Order: sequence, then structure tokens, then C-alpha cells
Amino acid sequence: MRYSSVLAVAASSLLVSAAPVRNRDAATNSLVFQFANVLNQLESSFYAQGIQKFQDSDFTAAGFTSSQLVSQVLTQIKGDEDTHISALQAALTAWGTQPLTCNFKFDSALTDVNTMAATARVVEFAGVSAFLGAAHLLPKDLIDSAGSILTIEARHSTLLNVFSGQGSSIPSPFDIGLTPQEILGIAGGFIDGPCDLGLTPTNALTVTNQGAVTPGTLLTVSGQGISGTDNLFCNMIQGGNSTSLNLPLSQCVVPPNTNGPVALWITSNNTPLSNDVTTRSTDGAVAGPAIFFVDTQPEMLGQMVRGQAK
Ligand SMILES: *[C@@H]1O[C@H](CO)[C@@H](O)[C@H](O)[C@H]1NC(C)=O
Repeated sequence: MRYSSVLAVAASSLLVSAAPVRNRDAATNSLVFQFANVLNQLESSFYAQGIQKFQDSDFTAAGFTSSQLVSQVLTQIKGDEDTHISALQAALTAWGTQPLTCNFKFDSALTDVNTMAATARVVEFAGVSAFLGAAHLLPKDLIDSAGSILTIEARHSTLLNVFSGQGSSIPSPFDIGLTPQEILGIAGGFIDGPCDLGLTPTNALTVTNQGAVTPGTLLTVSGQGISGTDNLFCNMIQGGNSTSLNLPLSQCVVPPNTNGPVALWITSNNTPLSNDVTTRSTDGAVAGPAIFFVDTQPEMLGQMVRGQAK
């Protein structure tokens, strides 16, 4: 009952704003909502598979003080994602666009509870970044309804930060917007089978360091287009910084005082990247972004949830 009434409200608020849009750039609006529809499906599917795969004992073995606490929150988050999907699909249908339904595989991310929690944290961060980075593509009469999803993704993100047990719940006063192509570069590997958004993902990038990344860590990476470190540059962006820290890839060291999420790109030139999707150049783009978390300020909140986080 609860979800269906929320859904009706959400769908109607999206539909009300759908009407005047057709005269503007209807194709862009549909693309953005279709992208959001797929991203929310990815999240929902991830939680569904995670909830199904792990038993209470897996959560307690991973240090969670209560397995019920985890399943309650993950089920709530999945419910939000499902409601978002229904609302987005209702808007797409009203615009005459067939909503995409995609499949996902998370084998590599569901090997154990810790990997799931770490992946969920990146996925929720990416959810926030995606809505933030796509907002400028929408006409102003759709910003309110899209923004009403963004704020919920941000709450999910906070909870997953807490669930990591090691990090800050709200690690940065600013988030980082990413383009739809960049989000697909991060999450596209989870898509299983056809799911054609008509967007070209950026090349996927992986941080290959073993163990925790901390200030002073020399990052090592792998990704399409990367072989060795010659003539390649790493670019790290933290929320609130106007441009990336651009360093030769062979000297890609996490700067002092870093805490929370960092977006990392590899480029073929030493021009720092803008921390603004509307001005970020793709000249010299090689791969990325990858998202990694630096946890230098553990909180009591995380310790309450994961007494002996491992
Ligand atoms: C972001 O800005 C802060 C403050 O200027 C600086 O200490 C930090 O190193 C910067 N981080 C990156 C990745 O550029």
C-alpha cells in the first residue's frame, strides 16, 4: 500500500511536468529519463541479488552488529529504486518512449558481504553523481522532479557510507557531477545483454592497488587504452575542487588530507580537468572515471553498525 501511493504521487508529479516538454528538446528529456530508468534498475537489481544471496550469518560474520539492520535498510533502498523506476517509466510512456528493461550481472561484486557493501557505496555515489551531472540537460520544469530523486539517492549514499564501517557518513561538503557517458563507463560492466541507450560509455578504469588507498598511496590502474605510464596523466577530483589534480601517471599519489570519494581519470595531456560537467573537456580522454574512497576519518556511527568491521 505504502509504495503504491508514493508511486502515484511520484508518477503524477513527473507526468504533470511532462506535458509542456514536448515542444522543447523531447529527445534529450527522454534520453535523460531513460538513462535514469536504467541506472535505477541497476541499483534495484543489485540489492535484489545481494539480499537474495547473503544470509543473516554472512552479515554478522562480516562484522555487522545486526543483520536485521542491514536487511531493513537495503530493502527500503530497493523499494525506493523500484518506485523511481515506475515513475520514470510512466513519464517515458507518457512521452511516447518505450522504457528500456535491462538485465545485470554482479558476480564480481557479490562474492562476499564486504565486496557487496563496497560496491553498493560506489553505486550510490554514482547515482548521486549521475543525477547531479544530468540536471543541466533538463529543462527547468523537469529539474524539480529529477531533483526529488537525487536527494533520495544522496540519503542512500550516506547509509552505504555508514555501512562501510570505516568511512565518514557525509565525507565531503560537495558532491561530484558526472556525465551519463562517464556513469556508463563506471557501471556499464554490470549490464548483461542488450540495453541500448544510444550513449558511448567512457573507457572503464580500475584502480588495481591491493588493500586500502590512503593519502600517500601511489595509485596503479588498468583500463582500455592504458599500457605502462608513459605520456599518461592521472587526474583526481574531490568534491568542491574546481579542477583535477593532474599528475604524471607514474607519480599518481593520493594527496594529503584526502577523505571520502575521489573520481579518477586518465588523460594523455597535463591539462587539469574541470570539476563541472558542462565544461569538462574530453580532449585527451583515455579512461575513467573510476571512483575510490579514502577513509581517514572513521566515525562512531560506522563503528556502531559494524563493531568489528573487517
Ligand atoms: C582539493 O583541494 C584541497 C584544498 O585545496 C587540497 O588539499 C586537495 O589536495 C585537493 N584534492 C585534489 C584531488 O585535487
